[in-house]
Amino acid sequence: MKTTAPLTERTSWKSLQVHFSKIQGVHLRDLFSKDPQRGRVFGIEAEGIYLDYSKNRIDHETLKHLFALADESELRPAIEAMFRGDAINITENRAVLHTALRAPRDARIELGGRNVVPDVHEVLDQMSGFCDRLRSRQWKGHTGKSIVNIVNIGIGGSDLGPVMAYEALRNYSDRSLNFLFISNVDGTDFSEAVEGLDPAETLFIVASKTFTTQETMTNAQTAKDWLLHGLGAGQEAVAKHFVAVSTNATKVSEFGIDTANMFGFWDWVGGRYSMDSAIGLSTMIAIGPENFHAMLQGFRQMDEHFRTAPWQSNIPVLMALLGIWYNNFFQASSIAVLPYDQYLKRFPAYLQQLTMESNGKRVTLAGNHVNYDTGAVYWGEPGTNGQHSFYQLIHQGTRLIPCDFIAFCHSLNPVGRHHDLLMANVFAQAEALAFGKTLDEVRKEGTPEWLAPHREFDGNRPSNVLLLERLTPGSLGKLVALYEHIVFTQGVIWNLDSFDQWGVELGKVLAQRIVPELESPEALELNHDSSTNALIERYRATRKKG
Ligand code: F6P
Repeated sequence: MKTTAPLTERTSWKSLQVHFSKIQGVHLRDLFSKDPQRGRVFGIEAEGIYLDYSKNRIDHETLKHLFALADESELRPAIEAMFRGDAINITENRAVLHTALRAPRDARIELGGRNVVPDVHEVLDQMSGFCDRLRSRQWKGHTGKSIVNIVNIGIGGSDLGPVMAYEALRNYSDRSLNFLFISNVDGTDFSEAVEGLDPAETLFIVASKTFTTQETMTNAQTAKDWLLHGLGAGQEAVAKHFVAVSTNATKVSEFGIDTANMFGFWDWVGGRYSMDSAIGLSTMIAIGPENFHAMLQGFRQMDEHFRTAPWQSNIPVLMALLGIWYNNFFQASSIAVLPYDQYLKRFPAYLQQLTMESNGKRVTLAGNHVNYDTGAVYWGEPGTNGQHSFYQLIHQGTRLIPCDFIAFCHSLNPVGRHHDLLMANVFAQAEALAFGKTLDEVRKEGTPEWLAPHREFDGNRPSNVLLLERLTPGSLGKLVALYEHIVFTQGVIWNLDSFDQWGVELGKVLAQRIVPELESPEALELNHDSSTNALIERYRATRKKG
């Protein structure tokens, strides 16, 4: 348990408060004109990622206080504790070792006296063997046909990582295979995914850490019925068309999947930190084992950077501290993540679970209510689409929304002028947000006085620009690990358990109670509040009418 002072009583926190009152009114225009080199001074490069953080409302003194906050929050020992495998997920009494998932074969990471690295590589090898058989069409379905449709069934971390990685790395994928992802318990998700698929050519990956999640188990059962009905076969067909990714061998075999076709992982891998575990099986099938290992290498490079770089050149730590600066001092409640790469279209959705399920907490490790804001709302869309949708609010609205722009110097689809146009938009947006357009400038353009306020951009809206060479499996691994470590750093400073998710429990339990009340042929006595009772009654009555 932490012995550091409560966050708002730390010396560095108090210094930040005093400093904030001085810098709050300073415009980025002034910061830039005072230091002509600012655009370079506040830029760092590590592991092939260039971070331009010059367009943040900070100066050298801000950074000094933020680094002091990291020290006073004992970030360095906390990082070591995570990498070492301490049970830092205290409410579940578990280690948090997703970093072991990308450890090299010869590394040694002991948990309870056992080196977990050989276990990790055994599963990776099992995945590679399976992928090779599938990709070379040696793995046949029940009727002898080759598998060409891979359907991942999972939700939360067992879906968002796989689907994000598949979309992100589509350029590296085997285009002769179709990949589909079913997550929602809404039957539409299932029906639309399997529409037109031949069961004889379809493989389902049931991905669930617990193998008890209602949505996943419902979809898996429906998939089994669909498959067996479509093939006109019995249980014996399951073995060739279903594999499982789980920590729960008992439940996997109860479902009817041979545990020989199960790819395991461990309770020390959180769902939202699992895309580089066996949960990434669909990713590996899509891009092949070699590319998957290149992705792991990217993760590993960012891990090492996070673990060893001093704060001033540590990209995840810098970004995490900037996030705290806006969240807790400027009262910014959200962060927009804006990838200027269509392949990253699911990246913001992926980050939503990673960030919000991790740091959407209101009690400290000791169980005390916090007296400061914690996790921000993460959201976003790829550029340039977002520019024609919500950017208006970011530029001229009343709220401060710090932005992370993510862009690549080389396009994977270098068509005509597209990439230069795309990149011109990234740079222009960050520039417009920071510097805006003053009333004077608007007037000088001949804008009538009544219209001028509408056309003024106050600017001073902060952003980071992350610039990478090109989107590769390795760079995706680095980006994901970067955000994992931002979340970790912020959780340490806010003194939270970033690795549990008790907030999702209540809704699950209540839904279980309501299911029979909806399904029962006879109306059951309802003992909810009057609103819930009325909704249930209306639903039943409407269903009855047909
Ligand atoms: O949303 C709650 C949650 O437990 C997530 O943390 C997890 O990623 C998801 O459900 C799916 O869980 P499982 O992999 O056990 O099906």
